[in-house]
Amino acid sequence: MAADHLPLRRIDYVKFFVGNARQSAYFYRNAFGFDVIGYGGLETGMKNEAGYVLRQGHITLVLVSPLNSDHPENDRLMLHGDGVKDVALEVENVGAAYEATISRGATSVVEPTVIQDDDGIYEYATIMTYGDTRHTFVNHDQYKGVFAPGYRPIDPARYREETRRPVGLKAIDHIVGNVELGKMDEWVHFYEHVMGFTQLVHFDDNDISTEYSALMSKVVQNGNGRIKFPINEPAHGVRKSQIDEYLDFYNGPGVQHIAMITGDIIETVSAMADNDVSFLFVPDSYYDALQDRIGNIDEDMARVAELGILVDRDEEGYLLQIFTKPVEDRPTVFFEVIQRHGSRGFGVGNFKALFEAIEREQDIRGTL
Ligand code: FE2
Repeated sequence: MAADHLPLRRIDYVKFFVGNARQSAYFYRNAFGFDVIGYGGLETGMKNEAGYVLRQGHITLVLVSPLNSDHPENDRLMLHGDGVKDVALEVENVGAAYEATISRGATSVVEPTVIQDDDGIYEYATIMTYGDTRHTFVNHDQYKGVFAPGYRPIDPARYREETRRPVGLKAIDHIVGNVELGKMDEWVHFYEHVMGFTQLVHFDDNDISTEYSALMSKVVQNGNGRIKFPINEPAHGVRKSQIDEYLDFYNGPGVQHIAMITGDIIETVSAMADNDVSFLFVPDSYYDALQDRIGNIDEDMARVAELGILVDRDEEGYLLQIFTKPVEDRPTVFFEVIQRHGSRGFGVGNFKALFEAIEREQDIRGTL
């Protein structure tokens, strides 16, 4: 096997650009169970934006809002609404990661940069991926701060331990991008050729189609297998697919959903539902046929059905998964919660039920 020209350790953080980071932080804290661990803004010397760092398990979300009308990224809010700006990847050598990708055709956003402050040395560089989404390469081996220069820990007096409410989310399983019709292969090639990923699996419109709509998807993963990025494109159907709807409302390609691993999906989804997180509705008929399709599972099937959790099985085992509704007013970004029992798949057996559930929502929105 050829040497990995871009050794990536893991997803370091996912940065959202949002209209009101303070209120988004409240949502992800109280609904999704994240701890707000860091803050950057006027009080910490940041002049044009405010940011909140949220953590649960190994997942770090960063929510950033502009503080004034000359912030260079303001257009994002008009174009996309709230959305993912950057999927940051931790590397050993930022300079080497940047050179390796730029020399293979990546577009530069920020050249390798070293920032030194009282907390140590923080290194990063940024390149473009689909749409105006970015990948920042980060190394913070010699940085002891809460997140990055400009950020400080949340004042413990204002953030009491007893108000923490984790729901058991552990790590990011995969992050899905939606791209335009005909562009999936281009971006798969980008991840293979520029980022050193390999293609894991693909799904075509035979796997992912309903009476009305279809999509195609290819999954790429990095050398150590910890980072998986499915790339979707719409396929021709009788009516408008959920990917077309996303592209219309996001005004172009971008991150569609972030899947987060839990070790106990019943507990995690119960807690999130109690916190008023809205999940996609699955009809009872799905569960009537389920036992025959997937056989016995460890979880209590009645609870699985009550919570609307989907189950799929392949040669290696099974998985349980559930999808939130979009987390902003535009029908764009949403989240998945997934628990794996051996299966490394993506729930292909659920695609039809899932897309029909999304189509019911599209129909209500008048976008099917
Ligand atoms: Fe997914």
